[in-house]
Formats: sequence, C-alpha cells, structure tokens
Amino acid sequence: MDDPDESTDGTDRVAALLEALTRAEKLRLVRGRDDPAGTATGYLPGVERLDVPAYRLVDGPLGVRAEGERATAFPASIAVAATFDPDLARAKGAAMAREARALGQDCLLAPGTNLIRVPHCGRNFEYYAEEPTLASRTVAAAVAGIQSADVVATVKHYVANNQEADRVRVSAEVDERTLRELYLRPFRAAVDAGVGSVMTAYNRVNGTYMSDHERLVGEVLKGEWGFDGYVVSDWYGTESAVGAATAGLDLEMPGVSPEGVDEDDAWDPGDLDGEAADVFAGLPDATKAGLFGDPLREAIETGAVPPERLDDMVRRVLGQMGRIGLLDGEGDGRDRRDEGALDAPEHRDLAERIAARGTVLLENDGVLPLSADADVAVIGPNVDEAKLGGGGSSETTPFQSTSPAAGVTARADGEVTVARGVPRVPELSLFDVLPFVGDDEGDEDGGDDGDRGDESGPEPSLDGAAAAAREADVAVVFVRDRTTEAKDRDDLRLPGEQDALVEAVAAANDRTVVVVYSGGPVELPWREDVAAILEAWYPGQADGDAVASVLYGDRDPSGRLPVTFAPEDRYPTADERRYPGVDGRARYAEGLFVGYRHFDAAGVAPTYPFGHGLSYAAFAYRDAEVVDGRTVRATVENVSERAGREVVQAYVRPPESPAVERPPRELAGFATVDLDAGERRTVDVDLDERALGRYDPDEGWTVDPGTYAVELGRSSRDQRLAVEVDVGD
Ligand code: BGC
Repeated sequence: MDDPDESTDGTDRVAALLEALTRAEKLRLVRGRDDPAGTATGYLPGVERLDVPAYRLVDGPLGVRAEGERATAFPASIAVAATFDPDLARAKGAAMAREARALGQDCLLAPGTNLIRVPHCGRNFEYYAEEPTLASRTVAAAVAGIQSADVVATVKHYVANNQEADRVRVSAEVDERTLRELYLRPFRAAVDAGVGSVMTAYNRVNGTYMSDHERLVGEVLKGEWGFDGYVVSDWYGTESAVGAATAGLDLEMPGVSPEGVDEDDAWDPGDLDGEAADVFAGLPDATKAGLFGDPLREAIETGAVPPERLDDMVRRVLGQMGRIGLLDGEGDGRDRRDEGALDAPEHRDLAERIAARGTVLLENDGVLPLSADADVAVIGPNVDEAKLGGGGSSETTPFQSTSPAAGVTARADGEVTVARGVPRVPELSLFDVLPFVGDDEGDEDGGDDGDRGDESGPEPSLDGAAAAAREADVAVVFVRDRTTEAKDRDDLRLPGEQDALVEAVAAANDRTVVVVYSGGPVELPWREDVAAILEAWYPGQADGDAVASVLYGDRDPSGRLPVTFAPEDRYPTADERRYPGVDGRARYAEGLFVGYRHFDAAGVAPTYPFGHGLSYAAFAYRDAEVVDGRTVRATVENVSERAGREVVQAYVRPPESPAVERPPRELAGFATVDLDAGERRTVDVDLDERALGRYDPDEGWTVDPGTYAVELGRSSRDQRLAVEVDVGD
C-alpha cells in the first residue's frame, strides 16, 4: 500500500485510505453526528489516526446558517433567479462559500432547485423557477460559484419535493417524461456543473422514498448521469438501512436523534393546533435516526449490503473532502478559515446588487421612478424591519440590515413620514411554531445591528395611514407574505389586514406605489387601483437600500418573473388530487403543463406572465437571425432617454405534431444587456441544448424533424420577433 502521506493525487490518497481504514472507521464516515463546536448543521468526526479531519456541513441557501454565528443575509434564491443573470448566482455562491470557510465549514447545504410547481409551497423562496431552463442555468452557476471557493455544494432536494404539506410522506406520482423534461433537469445541470453532493428529498416518488429510490438515485443519478460525488439524506430523512444503502445513499444525516428531546411528549402533536400542527406534519421522525450505524454494520455482516458498497460510500465522501483540500494532511477545515470574508464590504454590495437586480416592476403608470424631492409616506405593518427571508433551515442572521423605512429615509431629499397602518405581520418559522424546538435558535432580538420591529409608538390605524398618504406627494406601501419550510401557505392572499391597508392608502392618494415582499406568487386584488407595483421577493439584509435604489431610479428594475402570477384557482394544481394530494398521493396529472406551459396551453390569461417585468427604459427589437442551430441573434435598442437593462428571452415553439403533445412555448435561453439611452447592441442568445428536444420514454431525448419557431421578446407573452429553425429527418 502507498503511504498516504506521500501520495500527491487525490484519488491515490482516497484509495490508500480505503485500504487503511477499518470497517468501524468507515462506518464513522457515512453517518452524521453532533458538531462538538455546536455550529455546523451536520458533522462527520474524521479519523485522526489517518489524518482525516472532521467534515462540517452547514445550511444555506440564503446565507450561511452556522449556529450562533452571523453571516451575510443574501436575497432569496427566487430573487437571484429573477435577475435572469447566472453570473449573480455564481457570485452569491462564491461569497457564501467564502463565509462558510470563515466559519470553519466545508460543505454548504445549497443550492435548492426544486421547480416551483405549487404556488403555495412554503419553500418557493429557496428555489429558482417554475421551469427548468432558467432553474438549470441558475443552479449550475450557483454550484460553480460555491465550489470555486473550495467548499462542497449540495444540490437539494432530489427530487419532486414541490410542496411542504405532508412532505415527509407524500408520494409525487409523476410520469417519466414529465420527470425528465421538468423536474430532473436542474439536478442534471448541477451534476454537469460538477456538484459534489446531492441531497435526497423527504418525499416519495411513485411510491418509493427518495432515500431508498434505486432507480432515481442509483440508476439515473449515478449510473446514467455519472454522478461521482456523494448522496446525502435530508435531515432524519433516511428510511431504511439496507434499502437506502442499496439504492445509492452514501451518507446519513444527521444520523443521531436530537439531544434533549423527550420523545414521550416532545414529538407528540396532540396538543398542537393550527400552524403548529401543520408544521409538525412536515417534520421527519427523528427517532429513527442512526440507520447507518448499527443497522448498516449488521447488514454488511449478514451480507445484505456488500462491503464494497460501504467502500463506495466512503470513497465518495472522501473524494469530496479531498477535492476541497481536506486530505492534504494539513489538518482540520478550521485551518482554512478566511476570516476577512465575514461581513466583507464586497459581500454587502453584492447582497444589495442582487436584491435590486431581482426586483420586478409589475406595474407603473409613470409614478416611478420617484423624484428625490418628493414628500413620501412610507406605510406598512413591518416597515421598520428588513425582510430577510422565510422560515426554516435557510434563516440567516446578518451583521446588519436596512429596513424599508430606513432605506427610503436615507435616499429621499423630501420629507418622509412613516405609518404602520395595520398590526405587524409576525414572521413564521418552523423553529418558533413548535414549542419543543428552537429554544436556542438565534437571539430573541434578532442578533444583528440592523433595523428591527419596534412596537413602540401609536397604535397602527388605517385612518392614520390614509392621513399620512393624503399629506404626501407619494405613498409607498410595503406588504409581505409569511412562509416557512415544513408548511405551505393556506392561500395566496397577503396575510392580516394588508389588502385593506393598500385599498385605504390608494383611496387617499392616487400616487400609491406598492412594494411586495413574497416568496412566490401572491394575489394583488387592488392592483388596478394603485399607480405602481414592485415585487421585491425576500431581499435579505440590503432590503431598504436596494428597494430605495429602484424606487428612485438609481437602478433600472431589471428583474423578470421566474414564476407566473395568477389567481389561486387558475393554477394547474388547483385540484386536491394534484395538490396537496389525496391518500398520501399527489398526482402530477398536469404533466408538462406547469407554470406558463399550462397558462399558454389552456389559453388562460395570467395576472402577470412568466418573464414579465417592466423597465424605466423602453426597448425595440429588430433583425433576428439564427446564427447556428444553437444561437439566435437580434439587435436591441434602448429607445428611451435613460439607461436600462433588458432581459432578452427566447422561447421555442415546436412543430405541430399530431402524435406527441408538446407545450406551445418553452423558454430556450436568455441574455441580459445594459443599454445607455439610445444605444443599440447585437445580442446573442444561446439556446439550451434541450431547447428543441422532448423526452421519449423509449428513445430518450429526441429532436423531431420539422420547423421550429424561436420567438424573442420581453416575456412569455410579449414576443417581438420570430425566426425559424429547420430540423431535417
Ligand atoms: C431541510 C434541508 C436542510 C436540513 C438541515 C431539512 O429540514 O429540508 O434543506 O438542509 O434540514 O437543516
């Protein structure tokens, strides 16, 4: 055997370690434990005698969530996708990874890339898009960014974890073509980008738990796609020892039951109701943890799991540790700290830039951008706190944050008055809803030095808000939803009395602007009564600064919707058999017709279509041409008097085919372009390699002969030019 200390190639080092490790030591490398330092979300103890250091895994994807530590709270993933700019996903990934290292962590439990199938899903904010082309390009860039800083990325949750309702039991009943053309694609893109780890989802797919899914994990992910990293379970999401090991699961997390939980009463939902009961239904059973401990050891001893499978698990885990330099014999990941990364000015700037770039201008009758000297009434139940994110494992505690009120006040030259109008919308977090978890989750006061909710001052009243609006030149109302991991939204309305607030303010001032913070689509019943609407998602710590920069036109609102906005009953999942499911089964009977594919095929007009987003500038398109089969080119001109950024979107319309039904239009590619007033540029849009294809259950990916149209335009419903691509027999 080679001396492990002398091997220079990572593969040799891993091979040598596999020879040297005892079975007990190998088993220590496939099952998580508690981090003795108390900061990591998941922990592997390492093997000291062979210089294998500990390995620490930590949550994302909005920022680094190391227990008791602070980190940059970046905008939510859906905001990143709304920029239609994968470079920003890459930059955010790299910044999070640098902060992870600063906190002594080796692996980020990010990015998440489940498709937004259900508008109610409590984790839509952690995901990218309702469709695979945007999600794939964004996730690939995020993975590349994270791993560029020598941190292992974990793409999650594989696969069809599209709802939080009953997530630990529900079976997604989905046909092969739909899986291939929609839900698997972003995961494939992450694998092609070299992702080091894939996390299995809690749910079942076609009856089998994902941790045990031999076909999707062993055959598709590892076999067909050649994934060579490790597959990790979601936390307490390993269903069996033999089944999971055989299917291809490599690492059980966290592998131990939570300490201090009295099983007799703590996990009994009997006394929970309302939100807490819903959240409870979304929690895994932690008491079954430890399957990759004694049960796996026994399974190997009895021959139920071959020892080579254990070697393969260990090889995969060590392979990733080696790739980020942990096996170089230089000790623990804690020695790789890059302290300067925490709260670095460039990370603050990046957080603000992404938040602003992802903000979508849904409506504007000309009231925006605001003039600096306007007197502004800043109104909303939570205007004194930044909207950092949603609840659950992605919650990040920043060093500083800016509330909407502070952001507008800092930017405005005119007078600013602040009114809450209606009672505060409380945050919703799985950690707070359940009485037995999260007693030590963060500081009660939020932990950062930024703006926080303050209940002092006069009781909020609609009359007070209307009076403030009446006195001002412009009223800006900030409204928000509340979402968390482990629970879906009950409906798509804004919670509390916020709709009444917007209506009262709009009645008092016809220059009313609404800024919406939401994790996904929301209903905006007053939308025709207001002068402008901005969708700012969950902007993170830079909230007030970013939104003010868009309100005042320092930045063009160049975000576009990565998800269709429509009334609740128009979505294809508005049937309880499809969502939340009946008898533990959610039937994906809409097949490919999710998001805009559904609205286009059914001829149903959405409120705001996928890809929609206005600009303060105006753009003209001309001279489209096909450069080659994979690139379409057009000239885009800024025909306004101010600089702006356009997102050029290309959609493919397939040839008519009597034999195979296809969506009328599918996003094939996109490009962003900055244009000064009057400037004109040639823009190349690279089409996705799957742009013309469809998945045939017998033939695999197939491109049918015929004439395809590639439409170029501003959204899925605003096409400006079209070219044809012929595919011969
Ligand atoms: C979530 C994962 C997360 C893990 C660890 C689970 O509840 O589904 O996304 O990474 O917890 O916190």
